[in-house]
Amino acid sequence: IILNGALLISAYFLGSIPTGYALGKWMLGIDIREVGSGSTGATNVLRTLGKWPGLAVLLVDVLKGVSAIALVRYIYALNFTQQLATTAGLENTETVIPWMATLAGLFAVLGHSKSIWLGFTGGKSVATSLGVLLGLYWPVGLGTLGVFAIVFAVSRIVSLSSIMGAISVAGLMFVLHQPLAYILFGIAGGVFVIVRHRSNIQRLLNGTEPKIGQKLETAA
Ligand code: G3P
Repeated sequence: IILNGALLISAYFLGSIPTGYALGKWMLGIDIREVGSGSTGATNVLRTLGKWPGLAVLLVDVLKGVSAIALVRYIYALNFTQQLATTAGLENTETVIPWMATLAGLFAVLGHSKSIWLGFTGGKSVATSLGVLLGLYWPVGLGTLGVFAIVFAVSRIVSLSSIMGAISVAGLMFVLHQPLAYILFGIAGGVFVIVRHRSNIQRLLNGTEPKIGQKLETAA
């Protein structure tokens, strides 16, 4: 229990790393949460600071998710963990890993949106969720990215593409015969990401959500 708790807290702290906020402060001395959409995510960094900073934030935020899953796998691959599991009466750790990976993924996703360093604010957890998916089962990560890319190619709207990507995860996990834990990640993570897009959904319905490259003046 202590080990699992430590893993989840580590995943939360990994997700909490305030990449976009730090870059905004460092490059322009601004609080990224006060400009554009108010999100600390890569899209708002792209909008506010430009292409390369946006790409850097995207990459680091994806890596946060990947690392959270890699950490679980690494720790569970260690010998002493196997021994602990045996002592605890678990036949093997294989059945535990998908659940722990799923929980760690959710904690990383939560950390990105509700960062401990930013007074529990943050981004919309799209990039970090993608990282988690690539860590859990990369084909679903790529599939989700594919859905994102198709919607984006047609609409040029990042938020809409993210929402459609989020909706597709659970289905992709199911169709590709992944463990129940991963399907549940798709549902819980998907709902979380969609809820984080509330202001975007409102703008989408009003027809005021900007396409990429268009301006968004008011912080939401
Ligand atoms: O990655 C978040 C994206 O889906 C929307 O970001 O800044 O346009 O609200 P933003």
